[in-house]
Amino acid sequence: MSNIENRHPGKFSFHMLMMVLAGFTVFGPEMAAARQSAVSEVTFAKDVLPIMQRACQQCHRAGSVAPMSLLTYEEVRPWARAIRDKTAQREMPPWFIERNVGVRRFKEDASLSDEEIATIGQWVDAGAPRGNPGDAPAPIELAALDDWRIGSPEWIVELPEEQLIGAVDADRWLDIWADSGFAEDRYIKAVETKPSPGGHRVVHHVATSMRWEDENGEEGGGFLNEYAMGKNGDIFPDGTGRLIKAGTQIRFNMHYSSVGEEIVDRTRVGFQLYPKGYIPDRVLISRHVGDSFDTLDIPAGADNVRSDGYYVLPEPTQVTGFQPHMHIRGKRMCVEAIHPNGTIETLSCTGHNFGWHIVYNYADEVAPLLPAGTILHVIGWHDNTASNRYNPDPKNWVGFGNRSIDDMSFAWMSFFHMPEEIYEEKLVRRKRMSSE
Ligand code: HEC
Repeated sequence: MSNIENRHPGKFSFHMLMMVLAGFTVFGPEMAAARQSAVSEVTFAKDVLPIMQRACQQCHRAGSVAPMSLLTYEEVRPWARAIRDKTAQREMPPWFIERNVGVRRFKEDASLSDEEIATIGQWVDAGAPRGNPGDAPAPIELAALDDWRIGSPEWIVELPEEQLIGAVDADRWLDIWADSGFAEDRYIKAVETKPSPGGHRVVHHVATSMRWEDENGEEGGGFLNEYAMGKNGDIFPDGTGRLIKAGTQIRFNMHYSSVGEEIVDRTRVGFQLYPKGYIPDRVLISRHVGDSFDTLDIPAGADNVRSDGYYVLPEPTQVTGFQPHMHIRGKRMCVEAIHPNGTIETLSCTGHNFGWHIVYNYADEVAPLLPAGTILHVIGWHDNTASNRYNPDPKNWVGFGNRSIDDMSFAWMSFFHMPEEIYEEKLVRRKRMSSE
């Protein structure tokens, strides 16, 4: 008997089905309602659209560099699975800071919370329902792509020539130099880098920096500003500024990607300035920290190759931001502060993705406050295996060099120094704030 049943699983299923149906007639309406509400709990209109508005739409809209627009349900629906995967892996939005170490609060942090990622996952797993359109928030106002966020600049420096990006060119990373035209030293109050009108579609990112030679023939300079879709310019707090010296050359580090159409760009950087002769109380410095010129030694095919670099802070310092600088094989970077009393404090660790260059600016209340004599220790890790998708050749040894097929490891750190008494006052204020 049991033998026959086994050979006719269909019959068994039929019994099961009858039982389920019987159950359904008894508990049916309630169960169905419960299931319905579980399914409709997470909807696009109520739960997912607000996340898209906050963290995705400034890039994912018509005319921008991102491959698709994510403004409406119709636009988002076909991408639901890709969105679930990219957000779960924290590849989108691009923001690679490790969340469990170091400073946790940043300016302009578009990254998703664990809850938001879970919400997107539940929504996709439930079949990506639209929900009740009445639950949807009003569309957000997205700033026009051509607006200067710092206001109309007093001074603009453009690329020396237009760049023509073909319909199907490979991605291009270029360093282009331009003369700033500054005839005297000035302090910058605000700075913003922007593609020219229409260029937004092909400009993936731009980082601008300065190089000058001072009276004694010493080279100086530093980071200026970074453009990536959705970023504001930098407006420095009152009394804070960055020096640009007479005769400065400006470097535009460009990443162009084609969009299937020929497009012309002439990216520019705009400035607001303090009056001539004015010297702000706090001069913002951006410099290389922890270069490992001699020690960078990345064997063929090796992963997690570590290098170390150091920089001693000569005066009390507030660190305002940092950006890892590595090339194609860069994988991860940590910065720690070794205090003169021997305490070691991790400031930040971040993944590195050659496709994105992100500046992480610390929120003012938590920006690291460090005594004179602190050693900033920068630790880089490189991946020279084939699983690094940017790696052109895992069979090559790689060392320090300027070409992107060579590599580097240092952090651009931005900070300002202050006199000892101000540092002490700030420390006291911090302690009071954290005990409240
Ligand atoms: C700073 C701009 C920016 C932000 C913010 C951003 N994206 Fe993207 N996104 C891009 C770009 C550019 C690409 C193209 C691939 C690349 O360059 O990494 C992309 C690619 C993607 C892809 C892969 C598309 C494909 O072709 O497979 C998905 C999915 C995606 N983004 C979803 C999102 C979601 C969801 C958010 C918000 C939670 C978001 N993105 C936020 C710029 C952005």
